[in-house]
Amino acid sequence: MCGIVGYAGRQSAAPIIVDGLRKLEYRGYDSAGVAVHDGRGIEVVRALGKLRALSEAVAKRPLEGTLGIGHTRWATHGRPSEENAHPHVAGKVAVVHNGIIENHVALRRELIAEGVRFSSETDTEIIAHLVDRALRNGARSLFEAVRASLQLVTGAYAIAVLNADEPLTIVAARHGSPLVLGIGENEILCGSDISALLAHTRDMVFLEDGDLVELRGPGPEAGPTARIQTMDGVPVERPTKRIDWSPTMAERGGFKHFMLKEIHEQPDAIAATLRGRIDLENGDVHGGEIGLDPVSARAIRRVYIIACGTSYHAALVGRYWLEALARVPTTVELGSEVSNRPAVFFEDDLVIAVSQSGETFDTLAAVKAAKAAGARVLAVSNVLDSAIPRLAHGELYTRAGPEIGVASTKCFTAQLTALLLVSVYLGRQRGALDADAGRSLLQGACAVPGFINELLGDADYVRTIATSLVDATDVLFLGRGYNYPIALEGALKLKEISYAHAEGYAAGEMKHGPIALIDASLPVVVIAPKDASYFKTLGNVQEVRAREGRVIALATKGDEAMHDLAEHIIWLPEAPEHVLPFLTVVPLQLLAYYVASRKGHDVDQPRNLAKTVTVE
Ligand code: G6P
Repeated sequence: MCGIVGYAGRQSAAPIIVDGLRKLEYRGYDSAGVAVHDGRGIEVVRALGKLRALSEAVAKRPLEGTLGIGHTRWATHGRPSEENAHPHVAGKVAVVHNGIIENHVALRRELIAEGVRFSSETDTEIIAHLVDRALRNGARSLFEAVRASLQLVTGAYAIAVLNADEPLTIVAARHGSPLVLGIGENEILCGSDISALLAHTRDMVFLEDGDLVELRGPGPEAGPTARIQTMDGVPVERPTKRIDWSPTMAERGGFKHFMLKEIHEQPDAIAATLRGRIDLENGDVHGGEIGLDPVSARAIRRVYIIACGTSYHAALVGRYWLEALARVPTTVELGSEVSNRPAVFFEDDLVIAVSQSGETFDTLAAVKAAKAAGARVLAVSNVLDSAIPRLAHGELYTRAGPEIGVASTKCFTAQLTALLLVSVYLGRQRGALDADAGRSLLQGACAVPGFINELLGDADYVRTIATSLVDATDVLFLGRGYNYPIALEGALKLKEISYAHAEGYAAGEMKHGPIALIDASLPVVVIAPKDASYFKTLGNVQEVRAREGRVIALATKGDEAMHDLAEHIIWLPEAPEHVLPFLTVVPLQLLAYYVASRKGHDVDQPRNLAKTVTVE
């Protein structure tokens, strides 16, 4: 978690850094800070709370200078406070850090014994003191001082460091947390992800773990430079990649919140994720990115999907497709649970890691374990070159564009798209689907953007229903088969942003517990399209009504029986069964959004959450 930005150029650094941090606020938002070198020394401004507080502090105390670093924090070591906000300063050194220093207790003790006084509770301040000590002990440059200091540190980090004596230099390093360089005309930047740098350049260099880089801003004669070495001092070249995201993709574009914009971007995200990957003529999927040739695809004995949060729900839908369409046994596990029990992997497993950020600690740890056991790994991620795709044998990127709202929406449906593609590919290679079946499934997928546009046209009606849920303290979501994970996702969305207690349940399990909760005060959202399990779910609706529960139903247009039972109905278009989860989730995203928005919550940055969870 936490976001970092560094800028070295010819323009005033502070506003550029604050602007970059705004794009990274999804990574944490309990405090923020910026340090700028004004040619004479380093000035630091920090503020508790969201970035707005830092913007206001910087407006009151303008920082001059064209080189600086900044940080937005999600507290791990030390509570959210101004003292614990980054940058941390020691002597002439200022540091921002994303990650965790694991041996911080021992290092802190050692530094205190030497007479160092700490002014925060953070592990990051240790790095500042180590670099300061290395400089005082004669290190030739900040670059060398940072290298020497990092050799003493264990853990995961991305850092950016300034030295008051080197007004053109930022030293940055990456080990386990992401760090990208942006190469502009007369400026050079670094940041936790590309969205923070896009306003300046589309030419990015993705650092590798163990890279140490010296960024030099443009001088009177020379342009900006980046010198990259390994921790052992071996020079390395990293390729510059041109990114096709545009800066406006990370703007709100007229919507009140990013989440609402991202819900509306789902048709595009799905279409982009399908683009160029399907072969309608042969009813097949181009499998190159999946990293499995037909022989290997046939040799797979089991698919094992690992994910957390919303991605876990996408994985659960994926399991239905993999079993129904590819006829391959599929297990789905939470990343955190894989590391908490002796999970067994085989060499003929296909492990699919689903993670929009590509960084989630628990998913990453589980993927490492699976890979060590010899399994093939396929990453489904929205972030190019992030940690999980880097480890994988194949990468199927979702092309949702930057997702800023902490509660994931368009990444979810883009993940569904990717998992459907994998299912059809495996189904075709393994002989479970013939060309006609493959073609009709893919045609269904191509129709999804149109269906979602139709559903989005009814957003105002969902807003009306949301009004009736604003005071609800508990909401139950029920679904069956493909729609059970959608019930889980609908409940997760509601609790994440509206802070109401919500629970998703398999409709078939209702009578094994949740039915005890039902009375006239409990809203029950039932996902009941006309599919193979429709009549069973209709039975649940009748049971809820018999106990005076309030039913909000998602039902297929023309469903008379539902019409008589439910208090509110969100109508779904008639669509092929395998695409229903794409459609049923959309009204639930809107419902959560409108309830939270009506309650006046900060929808894009809900309390206590962060979009990228890089801690265990
Ligand atoms: C956080 C986010 C969720 C996300 C989950 C997994 O909790 O707030 O929106 O679903 O992490 O993230 P991943 O990047 O692995 O999909």
